[in-house]
Amino acid sequence: MQKAALVIRSGGLAAFPTETVYGLGGNGLDAEAARRIYAAKGRPSDNPLILHIAYPDEAERYALTFPLYDRLAKAFMPGPLTVILPKREIVPTSVTGGLDTVAIRCPSHPVAHRLIELAGVPIAAPSANLSGKPSPTEAAHVIRDLSGRIPIILDGGPCEIGLESTIVKIEPDGSLTLLRPGGITYDALCMIAPQVRVADAVTKQLAENERPLSPGMKYRHYAPTAPVVLLDGTPEKVLSFLRSEQESRACAILCYDEEVDFLIPRLLFPVGRRENLDEQARTLFRCLREADGTDAEIIYAHLPPQSGLGLALYNRMIRAAAHTVRQIP
Ligand code: TXA
Ligand code: MG
Repeated sequence: MQKAALVIRSGGLAAFPTETVYGLGGNGLDAEAARRIYAAKGRPSDNPLILHIAYPDEAERYALTFPLYDRLAKAFMPGPLTVILPKREIVPTSVTGGLDTVAIRCPSHPVAHRLIELAGVPIAAPSANLSGKPSPTEAAHVIRDLSGRIPIILDGGPCEIGLESTIVKIEPDGSLTLLRPGGITYDALCMIAPQVRVADAVTKQLAENERPLSPGMKYRHYAPTAPVVLLDGTPEKVLSFLRSEQESRACAILCYDEEVDFLIPRLLFPVGRRENLDEQARTLFRCLREADGTDAEIIYAHLPPQSGLGLALYNRMIRAAAHTVRQIP
């Protein structure tokens, strides 16, 4: 951690674990470090980075905070929540993708926390994947994507949550817009904020000419080489559909644990038990990476519910599937 902190302080990059996914960090006050991050990821430079701080009240140095920020911070920080606020001068526009707002997050992972403290600067960090790949939830994923492009990766084992942080924006009228669902659920936000609006792009496909509220939402996130199709129907109908598909073609299946015994043991990627959304969130990106590494001609997965943590799963999966849902009658 000392070494990684030194690298970051001197303008270089280090990958590190957080409770959500691995981040690719650089000095958040250094425009040049931000450019290095975009280059290492192959990321378009109008897609802003998240500024990671060690303590919630440090936000004040980099952004204009509001009473609602304090309430959110008290309820959910440190933790998997990112808040968009008007930025202060000190934050370079290369970090914010040219926007006059900045994304602030205070991670709870002890390694992330300590690294920010040791670096002595806020750490700008997107997820540590190559642009277009799923976010890394293990150090091995970071190595596969960024080996040779960055000098240091801290290995903290698999990430506890497995999906990127919830992103909210505090609007000038004091209401809250949910830009990206994550470990802090819509219902949890509603307990703190009087009014929470869900941005259209969370669940719907934006039209070609629509401008998203968050630049990241316009990029076709991760999509494996083989098409991903989400299946919607009763558990029995979907299972027998999968069985018959297995007999006719090479399909990879992100199945529930309890389905394994009823399927042909070939190209199966168990994501967790049907009712266990925490487990599914933890395993989703690893399973997608693994399924993508096979010669399957199609990848099937279940359509997640849109409530609780399901909304975050739904948001990631509907993108991986380019909004392809098949109803099984
Ligand atoms: O859990 C996470 O948030 C992880 C870990 C490493 O902290 N980070 C992460 O970063 O997922 P990234 O860059 O993959 O996603 C950041 C998202 C992007 O979609 C970006 O568009 C959005 O945050 N974002 C950043 N600044 C913004 C701003 N000022 N206004 C709106 N959206 C913003
Ligand atoms: Mg990302």
